[in-house]
Amino acid sequence: MQSLVNKRILLGVTGGIAAYKSAEVIRRLIDLGAIVKVVMTPSAHDFITPLTLQALSGNPVHTKLLDTEAEAAMGHIELARWADVILITPASANFIARMAAGQADDLLSTLCLASRSVVAIAPAMNQAMWRNRSTQNNLTNLGNRGIKIFGPDEGSQACGDTGPGRMLEPQDIANLTSGLFETGSLAGLRVVITAGPTREDIDPVRYISNNSSGKMGYALVEAALEAGAETILISGPVGLNPPDRAKTIYVKSAEEMHRVSIREAAKCQLFIACAAVADYRPKQKLTKKVKKDSDFMDISLIKNPDIASDVSALCNKPFTVGFAAETQENNESLEKIAFEKLQRKKLDLIIANDISNGSIGFDSDYNSVVAIDEYSSEIFPRVRKTQLSRQLISKISQKIKIKNKEL
Ligand SMILES: Cc1cc2nc3c(=O)[nH]c(=O)nc-3n(C[C@H](O)[C@H](O)[C@H](O)COP(=O)(O)O)c2cc1C
Repeated sequence: MQSLVNKRILLGVTGGIAAYKSAEVIRRLIDLGAIVKVVMTPSAHDFITPLTLQALSGNPVHTKLLDTEAEAAMGHIELARWADVILITPASANFIARMAAGQADDLLSTLCLASRSVVAIAPAMNQAMWRNRSTQNNLTNLGNRGIKIFGPDEGSQACGDTGPGRMLEPQDIANLTSGLFETGSLAGLRVVITAGPTREDIDPVRYISNNSSGKMGYALVEAALEAGAETILISGPVGLNPPDRAKTIYVKSAEEMHRVSIREAAKCQLFIACAAVADYRPKQKLTKKVKKDSDFMDISLIKNPDIASDVSALCNKPFTVGFAAETQENNESLEKIAFEKLQRKKLDLIIANDISNGSIGFDSDYNSVVAIDEYSSEIFPRVRKTQLSRQLISKISQKIKIKNKEL
């Protein structure tokens, strides 16, 4: 089933006759659930008005590189970071040439260079322009750089010619865009992901918990689904909607999360322990609300079981990934603390982030992490958690393939 639910598509429109079809592309993308923002080249204005594209996308259309209204006039960087995918329909021969040369002489070409997101183009031009060796060389160059090329189609053209160069139909473009998210890298695998905080009851109204929002774990669930995995989410109490295609099991306490995790982990090939599980719980849960009689209240705490360690100790253990949210202390590096955890818990991979940096991690939509295994570490710079989760799932699936070959 095609879906683009909550996917952020930055639609680039360049100057060609097929620009009018970009209006229909927006509608088809939105039909599949996407959020669309439009960027036009100056030439594109000659073919379709920004007003039409603004009305259809429901968002202001961006045209100028220098946007004094954007914070610190860095609108192009904001847009580049915002996009899950940059989709250019139509892509003119001229724009393809500019991209191939790595030019950054207008807003659209600049943010293509500034973005780490997937870029896809739907070329549209006269058949002779398409066949021209210069255009073909430029397309080979873009293909080699990982840029996806949708079409073109063959048939009658606006100029009266017949041949290759017609832009694909809007519905086909929307479907191919949806396909970009379906990587299939975890196809056939059962994946269990824990997310959110746990709550450790003190009495019927009070509890100990932490600041985890669950956003990272929920983003990983979406990425695992896109990668084709049968996905089970074990979620602590969060304010997020359950993912559509995953089986979601809600739990409250660390002990409950531990019990459900061990049960589900025994039946999966990949376990990702992303939840911020409370390390300790009150030794006794009081059955009656504690009165405010005394100036002091002593709560005695007892250690909770370690879910990731216990999963990796299972006799038929899944590939086990742990998360380490650390505040760096005594100049001890994040990587050193995480590596020690990786070994102690016998994990296959650990994903560490520094929560003393307030712009990432807990409750933020952004994160920056370092992924560490026995032999190597890789830094993933600050991006949206939705994008980061896809990068992490891609890395994890590669590691699983390598491990399976070794066995
Ligand atoms: C009427 C007209 C139609 C055009 N149609 C196309 C087209 O379909 N494809 C194309 O690559 N260029 C086409 N061009 C040429 C582009 O508009 C021109 O190369 C322009 O510089 C593209 O700018 P951009 O790539 O920055 O948007 C057309 C030009 C005109 C005047």
